[in-house]
This record gives sequence, C-alpha cells and structure tokens, in this order.
Amino acid sequence: MLCCVPLAAQDTDAEKLAPYYPTPETIVEKMLQLGGLKAGEKVFDLGSGDGRIVIMAAQKFHAEAVGIELDADLWRQSTDKIRKLGLDKNAHIVNGDLLRQNYSSADLVTVYLLPDPVNTKVQPLLDKELKKGARVVAHDFEFRNWTPEKVENIADDGEGRSHTLYLYRK
Ligand SMILES: C[S@@+](CC[C@H](N)C(=O)[O-])C[C@H]1O[C@@H](n2cnc3c(N)ncnc32)[C@H](O)[C@@H]1O
Repeated sequence: MLCCVPLAAQDTDAEKLAPYYPTPETIVEKMLQLGGLKAGEKVFDLGSGDGRIVIMAAQKFHAEAVGIELDADLWRQSTDKIRKLGLDKNAHIVNGDLLRQNYSSADLVTVYLLPDPVNTKVQPLLDKELKKGARVVAHDFEFRNWTPEKVENIADDGEGRSHTLYLYRK
C-alpha cells in the first residue's frame, strides 16, 4: 500500500547521527515554550524518535509540525500514533535523513542529537536554509559555532535528571 511505504529509499546510505533516547514530556513542553512556538507556525524536529515533540507541537501548540526520522520502526510507530490521535492534518513524520531535508519554511527547529561533531554536521545546513528570525532549540548539546540567546537549566525533570536547553535565533 502506497500510504505505508517508508520514503527513505534515497537515504539508504544515511548516517545514524544519534541513538534513540527520548526527551521527557515535561522537557518537550519547555523546549517548545522556550522556542516561542505559536499557533500556525512550522516546526521541524530533527530525529523525531517516537514523535513526541511533533505530537505536542501539533496538539498543544496548534503548530504545523514535521518530524524527520531515519529509523523505519520509529517512523511507523509515530505515524500510527499521529493518525490515531487525528492529528494528520498538521503533524507528519518523514522517513528520511535529517541532513537531506529542506528547512527554509521553518519557524522553529528542535534538536536532540549528540555533542560535536554531530551538531557541527547539522549546523551548516541550518545556517544556509533557515530564514531570518527562525529559532532553534537544542536539548543538552549546544551548537558551538553559535551564540545562544538564552540558556535554560532544569535541575530536575521529576525523575532526577538535569537538562539544559539552548535557544538560538537566526
Ligand atoms: C536522541 S533521539 C531524540 C528523539 C526525539 N527528538 C526526542 O527528543 O524525544 C535522536 C533520534 O534521531 C534519529 N536519527 C539519527 N540519525 C538520523 C538521521 N541521519 N536522520 C534522521 N533521524 C536520525 C534517531 O533514530 C533517534 O530517533
């Protein structure tokens, strides 16, 4: 069935930039708040895992949310969840390589990958494509070549883990 075929055929040589490690829901909300996400804005989550950032962005912030996920199982799982929640109109997941997408329409980009050299691989693409005023929120791993507009430290996420969020603006 055409609807359920992963779209990543062109990305079979893609590099897995980070393992799957989900952001706690409480921190997802803080990321979207820090990014100032407004209704109708477009947000991309780079490496969207189980889709939790995309889902909250669409459901709670009424944004147009897109996730990019290389792993076919996570893509399928998150796509099914979006369909079950009835969010298909403003949330979807691309099964592909985050380094091969176009982010020129983004108002906000969320990133939770790994420290350098990974973020440094992603940064030139965002430098090139993001429109002026677009925001990037990075979870735990900063972009060393950019200066954050704001840094938010969360001492305890409720499960004893600390987190740091970085807000950048182009
Ligand atoms: C640390 S997890 C973050 C998941 C989600 N963004 C969150 O915060 O809960 C990183 C995700 O990036 C995905 N990933 C790694 N390399 C990728 C690539 N080249 N293109 C797209 N996704 C990728 C992994 O499969 C994993 O699901």
